[in-house]
Amino acid sequence: MKPRQIKEGIFWLGSIDWDRRLFDALIPLPDGTTYNAYLVHGKDKTVLLDTVDIPLVSEILEQLQGVEKIDFVVSHHAEPDHSGGVFAVLEKYPAAKAICTAKCKAMLMDRFEIPEDRFMTVDDGQTLDIGGRTLEFLHLPWVHWPETMATYLKEDKILFSCDLFGSHIAGTDLFVRDKPRVFEAAKRYFAEIMMPFSKLIAKHLERLAPYDIELIAPSHGSLYDEPSFIVDAYKKWVLGKPENLVVIPYVSMHGSTRMMVDILTDELVLRGVSVMRFDLSEVDIGKLAMALVDAATIVVATPTVLTGPHPKALYAVALANLIRPKARFASIIGSYGWGTKVVEQIAAALPNLKVEILPPVLGKGIPKKEEKAALAGLAEQIAKKHESL
Ligand code: FEO
Repeated sequence: MKPRQIKEGIFWLGSIDWDRRLFDALIPLPDGTTYNAYLVHGKDKTVLLDTVDIPLVSEILEQLQGVEKIDFVVSHHAEPDHSGGVFAVLEKYPAAKAICTAKCKAMLMDRFEIPEDRFMTVDDGQTLDIGGRTLEFLHLPWVHWPETMATYLKEDKILFSCDLFGSHIAGTDLFVRDKPRVFEAAKRYFAEIMMPFSKLIAKHLERLAPYDIELIAPSHGSLYDEPSFIVDAYKKWVLGKPENLVVIPYVSMHGSTRMMVDILTDELVLRGVSVMRFDLSEVDIGKLAMALVDAATIVVATPTVLTGPHPKALYAVALANLIRPKARFASIIGSYGWGTKVVEQIAAALPNLKVEILPPVLGKGIPKKEEKAALAGLAEQIAKKHESL
């Protein structure tokens, strides 16, 4: 992809990774992704903001052909999908310096062995005049590593937000055009990457509120020429109350646990509670993560395998524990053959969640009268708890 002009003197550079299907060896990328870099020319200095992932560095070097000098490479975030080309750009432009936070500098030196004298660290709020254009560096830690920052380009009212507000979509829309598609991708991205840091993001949103921002340019996905579209979505995801929704990740080996899930689903729906179910035998964990952004309750449904939960149920629980959704309640249901310790093991795997555990429902074999009544009771309790939110 050739460089694309955003406005006079400001260009999108980077790569569209059409075929990538997994990030961090964990996160599904059903629509690929982009790595956005930006070239900003001032009257005196030229700045490159971020680069691309390591396998695609040759693309950004090609895009820089004809750019005679780069004075600074801003590295907002040390993760290699953005910093993968910093070293190569510094080598191409021997007078250039890498601008980043002190923490980012240490990480880049660890990962890429960039010499210390090639760095210029910046404080929070520090500005850089590049001739008719001013960059203000905003430390925004934990979006989503401890070293992260963003850059506000004052005269042009552009926020270069790096991962914050990003979305994993490989596409040619430089600016957001297909809003529903971007909304879903941005929510998936928020759920997987940003949700664990919701409290800090709330603070960052407050901090950014006074800035006059006409364009948000993230490091993944399309640019937001209507910033309120993504900022309002983030406010809802971060600050909004959990919804009247139960998410049920489940796995069933011989159908008994699935029967319990069916009964609980019916009982919840009868009481006006929405349900989203995820069969863990073939789940897209991104979809599960997205549902967890909104849910007030999580019910894990698992059979007992040699006294413990099914490993796929434990995987889903570990994921929920990592991404820290705002759910307030949780429970466990499932079938067992002769003995079980699933409740203790699942509850112990959720230390990060601030949830009230509602009485679990476990039964031998298929659900009988007693288990059916207990599932109805659990649904009743959930409905009442949701009303109290
Ligand atoms: Fe897109 Fe955290 O790197």
